[in-house]
Amino acid sequence: MKISEIIMKKRDGGVLTKEEIQFFIDGIVSGSIADYQASALLMAIYIRGMNEEETSNLTMSMRDSGDVIDLSPIKGIKVDKHSTGGVGDKTTFIIAPIVAACKVPVAKMSGRGLGFTGGTVDKMESIPGFRTSLEKEEFINQVNEIGISVIGQTGHIAPADKILYALRDVTATVDNFSLISGSIMSKKLAAGSDKIVLDVKCGDGAFMEDEERAKALGTMMCKIGEAAGKHTVAVITDMNQPLGYNVGNSLEIIEAIDVLKGKGPKDITELAISLSAIMLKLGEMVDSVEEGRMMATEAITSGKALAKVKEFIAAQGGNPDVVDDYSLFPEPQASIEVTAKNDGYISQIHCKCIGLASQSTGAGREKKEDALDLSAGIKLAKKLGDSVKKGDLLATIYGDKSKIEVAAKQVEDAFEISDEKVEIPKLIKEIIGL
Ligand code: URA
Repeated sequence: MKISEIIMKKRDGGVLTKEEIQFFIDGIVSGSIADYQASALLMAIYIRGMNEEETSNLTMSMRDSGDVIDLSPIKGIKVDKHSTGGVGDKTTFIIAPIVAACKVPVAKMSGRGLGFTGGTVDKMESIPGFRTSLEKEEFINQVNEIGISVIGQTGHIAPADKILYALRDVTATVDNFSLISGSIMSKKLAAGSDKIVLDVKCGDGAFMEDEERAKALGTMMCKIGEAAGKHTVAVITDMNQPLGYNVGNSLEIIEAIDVLKGKGPKDITELAISLSAIMLKLGEMVDSVEEGRMMATEAITSGKALAKVKEFIAAQGGNPDVVDDYSLFPEPQASIEVTAKNDGYISQIHCKCIGLASQSTGAGREKKEDALDLSAGIKLAKKLGDSVKKGDLLATIYGDKSKIEVAAKQVEDAFEISDEKVEIPKLIKEIIGL
């Protein structure tokens, strides 16, 4: 087989066989296929698409490109959760302690930021001392002892995804149905949980802007999960404005802690409770999602989830005092305010632009090797539908002096103000596979 012939076949709209897909995945992992050839095939796939069978074969080859973790030494039903990527999406850091406090074990591997979207691993690293890389034994022991561990994806889990993820990020081939499906499901199937909850984002700040495409992606990923013997549920959720008010690593962890204290923003609290409830149902801790919602809410009001997050931070080497004292997080060098140009109602907050602005502050990477400013980011003061008067604060931008002016301009451009109040998009649009 020759990679150039496989590229040509897909370029011309052909359907790739299981063997051809396997050859491609083997070749990128062994290094016998060059980055430029892999990029050419990614672009051909992006433009021509893949059918369901190709997508499923791609996912399985990617899963088997590395270790498939055995989590059976952990007692109980392990339920994993993965978001397709959003702006201000700090749900993992809220859900994981809630679900663990309700006695469903959380043994989770998370990712770093991708493009304009943030990643849980980067966010957790803003906690002084927090380790996101644990040996497998330590990871499993921690879950057995305190019910929770969240770490970065090891190099041995779906290494094909690691290579393709980095190439897609810089070749404009991220937002493709089959490539997203393969990327997410290969990792989830390799990470060893028994059941999977997928938060499929749709809207201006998601890789799938269109609701129908997001539903098709969710349906496809559920099919792949079920075919591999893992009950998979996809929740289609809105990403037309950032979740909560804070975007940026330490800012998001602070807001997540606020949610666990019962004083977080309404949208992110609602999403976290809904996703936790589904996880509790899949973990067979409750009989219905409604019962799960009550249990998740009680974990917050009773303080159990907050106690669990402190335990979790301490177990991974972080300073748990950050929960009570936010000044222990890294301090940004400077800040700048963006204010409203006229009176009216907030009719748009272009979510992708906020994500890009956050990247400009240094909270996200422009290049793979960039170091992050973990204190940088954006704190919104207004959300969709809020009324404003000229001169009111819209957002505060934090970070290095040399970066925040550019970011402030991007944030200013992201806001639209109209005379009429707009309808707020529904947060949870559909649940597939429950
Ligand atoms: N998250 C992933 O892990 N992969 C993608 O392709 C998109 C979001």
